[in-house]
Amino acid sequence: MTSSTTQKLGVVTGILCLVGLGFMLMWTDNTVVSISQKHYWSIVKNGTLVNALLHQISASNNIDNNEAKNKNDSAKTEDKKNTTVSEATNFTSTTKITTTTTTTTTTTSITKQPVTTPVVAKKPGIILMWTHPWNVDSEPPSDGKVFGNCTITYDRSKHAEALAVVFHYTFVPEPYPYPRDPNQFFVWWSWENPWVVRWMEHNDLRRHDNSFFNWTMTYRRDSDVYAPYYLLRNVYNNLPKGKKVVDDLIAAKKGLAVWTVSSCKDKKGSISRMNYVNEMLKTMPNIDRFGKCFGDKWPHAKMADFVRTRKFYLSFENAVHCRDYITEKLTRNGYQYGAVPVVRGPKKEDYLVMAPPHSFIHTEDFASPAELTKYLMYLDKNDTAYREYFKWREDPSKTWDDQRMEVERRHPNIKTLPDKTYWFGKLCEQVQNRAPPKVIPSLRKVFFDDTEECQDEN
Ligand SMILES: *[C@@H]1O[C@H](CO)[C@@H](O)[C@H](O)[C@H]1NC(C)=O
Ligand SMILES: *[C@@H]1O[C@H](CO)[C@@H](O)[C@H](O)[C@H]1NC(C)=O
Ligand SMILES: *[C@@H]1O[C@H](CO)[C@@H](O)[C@H](O)[C@H]1NC(C)=O
Ligand SMILES: *[C@@H]1O[C@H](CO)[C@@H](O)[C@H](O)[C@H]1NC(C)=O
Ligand SMILES: *[C@@H]1O[C@H](CO)[C@@H](O)[C@H](O)[C@H]1NC(C)=O
Ligand SMILES: *[C@@H]1O[C@H](CO)[C@@H](O)[C@H](O)[C@H]1NC(C)=O
Ligand SMILES: *[C@@H]1O[C@H](CO)[C@@H](O)[C@H](O)[C@H]1NC(C)=O
Repeated sequence: MTSSTTQKLGVVTGILCLVGLGFMLMWTDNTVVSISQKHYWSIVKNGTLVNALLHQISASNNIDNNEAKNKNDSAKTEDKKNTTVSEATNFTSTTKITTTTTTTTTTTSITKQPVTTPVVAKKPGIILMWTHPWNVDSEPPSDGKVFGNCTITYDRSKHAEALAVVFHYTFVPEPYPYPRDPNQFFVWWSWENPWVVRWMEHNDLRRHDNSFFNWTMTYRRDSDVYAPYYLLRNVYNNLPKGKKVVDDLIAAKKGLAVWTVSSCKDKKGSISRMNYVNEMLKTMPNIDRFGKCFGDKWPHAKMADFVRTRKFYLSFENAVHCRDYITEKLTRNGYQYGAVPVVRGPKKEDYLVMAPPHSFIHTEDFASPAELTKYLMYLDKNDTAYREYFKWREDPSKTWDDQRMEVERRHPNIKTLPDKTYWFGKLCEQVQNRAPPKVIPSLRKVFFDDTEECQDEN
């Protein structure tokens, strides 16, 4: 065994232990994101397996209805695979039926079909994943995983039967070794933001100026298949709610603010957020700080338990004004752990679109870090005003759609997201609903279209 293998195994074992013990892992500051940011280095260097594990954990934390539901289906996967193949082969020749779709056909930029478009009977189908993300076998989705009516396969011999072929952005074959079926959708999948892809990974995407792809699958609302880190609907549905829940959350507060961070200097956005927090500290020194950037100093409590005792969590992304780049820092560290998220990264509008009403504080609402801390300290003194940030959680009878409507009532220019599925579930739904053909002549133009800070190298 080489020493690097030993090291890997050691780390993996360590992580497994931690997982077994509880949620210590959460202290790695935002599992998904740390993977996103570091996968390239770790694959080249040491942490491949670690990242794979982290990623899986984060995926299982996604509180995905599909995933939960499908766990039970996994026993039936073998069955499904067999029927799936033949039916998928003949997918395009199946009878058309007309349904009045009341579900997600009006969804934002994603499903472009009018409500009355006939849809094909929803037969099971297969989606071919070209490689696992970063070509690491343990990275999800796993072979045979079921999303809605689709099953994931990595078996390239089934290429002709697949409704869609998904390429993780790190592994796109050149050239594609099979004849191409013009009915198939080739999907470019990334959870990375443009800054990381362009400047950290030095991938200018020019090689995809060739109409190879039909769809993008990213966390951005403007992608063809919406694949955010979390679907807020699912997060919301799984949160405990009610007056008592809020009473307890508020009663648990023992300190002002907490921040965990593992990426300090490797990105423009990491540097700028560190500077921002340093400015905040001048007027509000009581921000508990943990994570790699602070010498891996952890409190004794688990992250969830600790964050729960703080009024605010600094949900600062490592990229500034990358549209829709909102990660578990908001959903898990903020909402799930029960602190009011103070957000920085995407513009306020991006948060409004996906967050519950009056549930976060955006740094750009304040002229300076000092103005922000002044407000946080005011909320610390005014229980009524602080509690207003939990009001959305007080009435358990409110559905996610009620929450969205409330946001739209308060912000008439905001269009919230009705999505009920995302990621591969969404992809399946779209191919099964026979989305219209599409070609992306230049992926670069689509993905690097931001003109603002997100795209600035320095
Ligand atoms: C991975 O490599 C980096 C730099 O080479 C090192 O600092 C880090 O401790 C290593 N991590 C693990 C998990 O081995
Ligand atoms: C899972 O499957 C088992 C056996 O098929 C069934 O008894 C059980 O009700 C299912 N659970 C859910 C949550 O669907
Ligand atoms: C599915 O096909 C495989 C190989 O073709 C076979 O071994 C398996 O028994 C089949 N399963 C069912 C449920 O028919
Ligand atoms: C596909 O459909 C055609 C005609 O309907 C049929 O002859 C063929 O056997 C079908 N193929 C599969 C794999 O079911
Ligand atoms: C799967 O297909 C069936 C019809 O065959 C449909 O009733 C069901 O809604 C579909 N499921 C999803 C998640 O699209
Ligand atoms: C506390 O907050 C409430 C609700 O926002 C507000 O009406 C009240 O005036 C505030 N009290 C003080 C002392 O600022
Ligand atoms: C996907 O793009 C290719 C062009 O590279 C095109 O030939 C094909 O028809 C497209 N497929 C769909 C379903 O739009």
